[in-house]
Amino acid sequence: MNFENKRVIVTGAGSGFGAATAKLLAANGAKVIASDINLAGAEDTVGIIQQAGGTAKPIRTDVREASDMEAMVNLAISEFGGLDIVINNAGLGHKAVPMHELSEADYDLVFNTNTKSIFWSVKYSVPELIKSGGGVIVNVASIGAKRPRPLGVAYNGSKGAVATMTRALASELARHKIRVNAVCPLASETGFFKTTGVDKLSDKLRDHMIKEVPLRRLTDPSDVANSIAFLASEQATFLTGILLDVDGGKGI
Ligand SMILES: NC(=O)c1ccc[n+]([C@@H]2O[C@H](COP(=O)([O-])OP(=O)(O)OC[C@H]3O[C@@H](n4cnc5c(N)ncnc54)[C@H](O)[C@@H]3O)[C@@H](O)[C@H]2O)c1
Repeated sequence: MNFENKRVIVTGAGSGFGAATAKLLAANGAKVIASDINLAGAEDTVGIIQQAGGTAKPIRTDVREASDMEAMVNLAISEFGGLDIVINNAGLGHKAVPMHELSEADYDLVFNTNTKSIFWSVKYSVPELIKSGGGVIVNVASIGAKRPRPLGVAYNGSKGAVATMTRALASELARHKIRVNAVCPLASETGFFKTTGVDKLSDKLRDHMIKEVPLRRLTDPSDVANSIAFLASEQATFLTGILLDVDGGKGI
């Protein structure tokens, strides 16, 4: 896959899937805006990319905030002269509780971070993609969007909205030559788990989770990065509205 001269934004690029994706795209020639609410994380990712000879700029962005999202897109324009690819990856979970025990604050945090972020991203990035003559958006949903389970109802609902918006946007933006796809990953031991109240997976819980996965492991960030890169690449020019399971068969 060749991303030479492609100008890319990755949100949540300071950790986990976003960091792996930013590094992979940059290693294949992309110029990357690495955005994260955690600036130190974004700077770490950029440092690694630059050390390897790649091009990247960090920015602190809260994906819930319109002004931050506008500034993120503006940085791509001022640094790289435009925008070709947007990876909407930033997101989080909530404490694993039944929905009737979830607080309104946690519900709002999850929906604003995982779902309203897509609205802001589209609002500011799509006009730039249109100016570029087309482009690609890849959203990070979750296998929970398709195969929801207990104790994550609001999270799964937020990712279900991401999945539906992905397909709706794919149909809306095709006339501008903008493809819109999503990946639906299975659990991965990234920073995400901390947001669900689990500091570290116990061996017992990990073994239990792995037993339910046909390919007998959890997701590695490289699995997600490789799938995002494929969907964003020239090899996928006829793919839009795809919700690609990255789950070792768990969703079957
Ligand atoms: N790890 C999993 O089990 C899993 C499974 C399926 C989907 N996902 C999704 O993958 C995406 C990436 O998660 P991850 O697993 O890499 O977790 P992670 O915690 O390692 O990375 C998420 C990044 O998003 C950033 N972030 C959080 N809130 C933000 C905000 N308001 N604005 C900007 N950045 C913000 C965090 O600082 C962090 O760097 C998320 O959308 C998550 O819901 C994760």
